[in-house]
Amino acid sequence: MKIIKLPGQLQKICFDLIKKGKTVGLVPTMGALHAGHISLIKKSVSQNDFTVVSVYVNPIQFGPNEDFNKYPRPIENDIKICKENKVDFLFLPTNETLYGKNFSTYVNVENLSQIMCGVTRPIHFRGVATVVTKLLNIAQADRAYFGMKDYQQYIIIKKMVEDLNIRTKIIGCPIVREKTGIALSSRNTYLSAEAKAEANGIYRALCEAKKEIAAGKKLDAVKKNLEKNILKIKDAKIDYVELRNADTLEPVFLSKPSKPSAKNDKKVLAAVAVKVGNVRLIDNIVERLKS
Ligand code: PAJ
Repeated sequence: MKIIKLPGQLQKICFDLIKKGKTVGLVPTMGALHAGHISLIKKSVSQNDFTVVSVYVNPIQFGPNEDFNKYPRPIENDIKICKENKVDFLFLPTNETLYGKNFSTYVNVENLSQIMCGVTRPIHFRGVATVVTKLLNIAQADRAYFGMKDYQQYIIIKKMVEDLNIRTKIIGCPIVREKTGIALSSRNTYLSAEAKAEANGIYRALCEAKKEIAAGKKLDAVKKNLEKNILKIKDAKIDYVELRNADTLEPVFLSKPSKPSAKNDKKVLAAVAVKVGNVRLIDNIVERLKS
């Protein structure tokens, strides 16, 4: 595995590979790699001739009072994990090499970036879309891999790639969870053992909502019950609980029976952001409406 720090160097390598007819897969991450990230890496390695993983804690996607400084950075372990999983190129840019001086061009996917997580994190998705555009331009990837754990991010990146005619195919990957249910996240290290045990209740609540949607229960009742179950978690505060069209993130009509009204309205996303103590966790499930 080759470690590359300079964007220009990685771009040249990837251009040469693509010229030779090789395929390149990209897995963008902020490091503190866990089994969720590894599932993306494995998929890329299995589908492409070469895999690039980026590890970069992107400052422009963090708000002023967020956890940029305390975000975990166990870089030696990340390098080991990448090697073990047959990554070809590990990209480790720095703020200086990636953004340089007077950086002033941002990518903003309008509307989708303002809803859900965008309400309390107003600059977050602009930062994500900008860094991912840069990474896609540098790696010229045939495919890039994103987890459905960050479902809104996945949909925003798909829309961005479509709107900006970027050649990369965006591959969504299933959420990897601990046996107890909690979705793996680099931020789970902020949770005490007790809070982590409590946080499993988020997935239990989502599973109940999933069953109810599949059974055709009215979506406003599904939402209310989901909120009620989440509030049973000790020290939980709801940031949002939302039911939306899983392809477009448009609102679903809560008061109607949960029957698909159009061909592309068949899958519902139930997404939540919950603070357990001071730690903000997101999770979701997708379920097909009963027809
Ligand atoms: P990060 O949180 O490190 O996540 C990197 C990728 O791993 C994302 O696509 C995320 O959805 C996926 N991932 C994280 N936990 C997962 C889990 N439990 N199961 C499946 N996939 C999981 O998301 C980011 O970094 C950044 O915003 C980034 C896209 C790198 C831009 O800076």
